[in-house]
Amino acid sequence: MLLLPWVSAALLYGLNGVHATPQQVTSSVTRNSTTISGVSVPSSSVPSSSVPSSTSTLITTTSTVASSSSSVAASTITPAPSSSTTNEGSLPTIGATASFPPVGSFPRDYSPAGLQKLWNIVGPVESPPFTTTVIPTPVVLPSPPPALYPSSYAPAPKDILPNLKFPKGFIFGVDTAAYQVEGATKEEGKGPSNWDWASRQPGVIADNSTADVVDLHYYLYKQDIARIAALGVNSHSFSISWARIFPFGTADSPVNQEGLDHYADVIQSHLKANIAPVVTLFHWDTPLALEAYYGGFTSPNITDDFIHYAKTVFAAYNGSVHTWYTFNEPRVFCSQVGSYPFNLTYAPGVNISTAPYQCSYNLLKAHAGAVKAFREMKITGEIAFKSDDYIGIPWRANNTDDAAAVERHAAFQIGVFADPVFTTGDWPQILKDTLSPEYLPRLTKEEQKDILGTADFFAIDSYRTYYVRAPDDGLAACVNNSAHPNWPTCNIETQYSYDPLNLYGGNVGWAVGPPADPLSDWLQATPQLLRASFKEYHKRWPAKKIYLSEFGFAEPFEGVRQPSLIYHITEDVDRTNYYMTYLAELLLSIHEDGIPVQGAFAWAMVDNAEWNSGQSARFGIQYVNYSTPTLERVYKRSAFALSEFFKAHLQN
Ligand SMILES: *[C@@H]1O[C@H](CO)[C@@H](O)[C@H](O)[C@H]1NC(C)=O
Ligand SMILES: *[C@@H]1O[C@H](CO)[C@@H](O)[C@H](O)[C@H]1NC(C)=O
Ligand SMILES: *[C@@H]1O[C@H](CO)[C@@H](O)[C@H](O)[C@H]1NC(C)=O
Ligand SMILES: *[C@@H]1O[C@H](CO)[C@@H](O)[C@H](O)[C@H]1NC(C)=O
Ligand SMILES: *[C@@H]1O[C@H](CO)[C@@H](O)[C@H](O)[C@H]1NC(C)=O
Ligand SMILES: *[C@@H]1O[C@H](CO)[C@@H](O)[C@H](O)[C@H]1NC(C)=O
Ligand SMILES: *[C@@H]1O[C@H](CO)[C@@H](O)[C@H](O)[C@H]1NC(C)=O
Ligand SMILES: *[C@@H]1O[C@H](CO)[C@@H](O)[C@H](O)[C@H]1NC(C)=O
Ligand SMILES: *[C@@H]1O[C@H](CO)[C@@H](O)[C@H](O)[C@H]1NC(C)=O
Repeated sequence: MLLLPWVSAALLYGLNGVHATPQQVTSSVTRNSTTISGVSVPSSSVPSSSVPSSTSTLITTTSTVASSSSSVAASTITPAPSSSTTNEGSLPTIGATASFPPVGSFPRDYSPAGLQKLWNIVGPVESPPFTTTVIPTPVVLPSPPPALYPSSYAPAPKDILPNLKFPKGFIFGVDTAAYQVEGATKEEGKGPSNWDWASRQPGVIADNSTADVVDLHYYLYKQDIARIAALGVNSHSFSISWARIFPFGTADSPVNQEGLDHYADVIQSHLKANIAPVVTLFHWDTPLALEAYYGGFTSPNITDDFIHYAKTVFAAYNGSVHTWYTFNEPRVFCSQVGSYPFNLTYAPGVNISTAPYQCSYNLLKAHAGAVKAFREMKITGEIAFKSDDYIGIPWRANNTDDAAAVERHAAFQIGVFADPVFTTGDWPQILKDTLSPEYLPRLTKEEQKDILGTADFFAIDSYRTYYVRAPDDGLAACVNNSAHPNWPTCNIETQYSYDPLNLYGGNVGWAVGPPADPLSDWLQATPQLLRASFKEYHKRWPAKKIYLSEFGFAEPFEGVRQPSLIYHITEDVDRTNYYMTYLAELLLSIHEDGIPVQGAFAWAMVDNAEWNSGQSARFGIQYVNYSTPTLERVYKRSAFALSEFFKAHLQN
């Protein structure tokens, strides 16, 4: 799941000022953490995650910090609104402060006590309501929903382009990511991640929710697998939490066998259900230890630690996993790194402006190194990374600045990683022309050689396509002027068409597509632009195979309906229309345009923790009732629509 425009901190403050009021880091726990009985959840041990409630905010106030703590003056910040380079709306003021020990000051202590000290940076963690893997009960599908519309208006899913089929072997997948669904965040030896920490910093999560428990997929995966199998889903794309395998992150730190065993069973459980496990090594959850030791992905030191982690996972699951990703949406991840609160965790010499590009450099080398190891180790299967975003269409027809802005958008959003890996080995020329080496380290010929060709297929999380325009004062005023508010990207994503009559100010025409939930205001449904987008992807970054590795929609206001009636929630009409129209266009893209698309993965399998939008922005094709101790799942209409569509369009 993506969310941030490059170097815009806007969304980290919430949206349109509605949800981002000042807030405290709170030590209160919102769900009663007793074990439950009944269903098939064995009552089990006392939750192990409780930490003293006195460790509320600052590491310096925590008595359990190592002896060096007296020299650890927590750096604190008072975030203020910053100007947005895109159109996310105004930013609220944040009154409280975030904190993190100065990078490099935290002692390396790989003992259990050292692990607890890392958790003390995070603060108290909510314990899950149960801590044993749930034995799945047989899934009884409810009767399918009645037709959404009369057939005079829209066909049933099976009747959409009935003569076109997906190619043999096509993957019908659903997506999740470790941080967003697992919960059990402090269980079974896991170390804290950057997001465990960030989700508690003031103003970061719109609804103040954490992902401490969230869907508890960590203990419910067998039931979740049974539920998607019942729909005919044949693949699940999920991520492994690095901090579960290496709680301290580093190559010289101990591996957590419980973490390795856990994912081994997750993978085997998928295989038993005939669901292909697709594994992402990194979906934005950096071990917090690495932020503390050296500044995470802003430090070149991360590269070797990531490669070591990758090799460990490859060796453990070789032969059981066919499709692998190194990184999910590195472009979005590195833009997060250039935003509050992650600007407290930089390597020496890195600042909020340079961080995204230093991150890009280190991450790209980590990707290439991991793929090199994958090949040297003769791991079976295929490996790539997941790109995101879109190329865009010029806002004003025949406007050369807007056409050039589209090229900048393509370079900064996708080309930054896709050019080096798929076509040149090097950064896009536009980036090199714009960013000095202090921002974007140059790749040597040797590095370029190592990077080029390090993907077996092209994967893109393609949720939408928008217009792109030049800054209001023109491109020339921006590209060589680092003081310009739109620098360095010098393009503006625009969610509405150009109105030459300027009737409402700002030349605001029609929406490019229907909007998703306001908490996900980066998203409008644009199926009409899918084919053109896929043609562009394939032209610019040719590959033998393409996966639509994520697509999905946050039903407007689904998370705030009052009264909250299950038969209103399951009637997710906008999401259903999104999926049906996208899949129909995808069929045309394959058959009419000859694009080699071999899989489509719906984000998301279940509602989950949508980063800084929290649990209020819902992307699931299954509803999760967070008020029930069993974290009950309920299929929405869209789950049935996908199931019916794929049953009718898949070949054996
Ligand atoms: C989040 O917490 C802050 C501080 O406790 C509070 O002011 C704010 O209303 C909360 N926001 C939501 C959406 O609950
Ligand atoms: C939590 O559970 C305990 C034990 O069952 C009970 O005494 C207590 O009232 C519960 N607290 C809340 C807030 O529900
Ligand atoms: C981090 O970013 C916030 C928001 O832009 C800013 O207020 C704060 O000063 C920054 N802190 C550091 C240490 O750069
Ligand atoms: C980073 O890596 C360099 C080179 O291997 C090493 O000398 C240095 O100690 C490392 N720094 C940290 C903070 O890990
Ligand atoms: C960040 O570092 C770059 C490169 O050293 C420098 O040009 C720029 O002024 C710095 N920006 C900030 C906000 O400190
Ligand atoms: C991975 O599996 C393949 C096929 O069985 C084998 O040839 C290769 O040696 C294995 N690699 C490792 C590191 O185990
Ligand atoms: C754009 O240019 C083309 C070819 O020169 C022309 O046919 C078309 O009318 C122009 N469109 C607009 C909106 O000016
Ligand atoms: C920006 O600077 C480069 C290099 O100095 C120059 O070639 C280019 O023409 C400049 N672009 C604009 C729009 O001024
Ligand atoms: C969620 O569960 C709670 C507690 O059982 C229940 O009161 C509520 O109605 C449920 N919500 C929905 C939408 O079904």
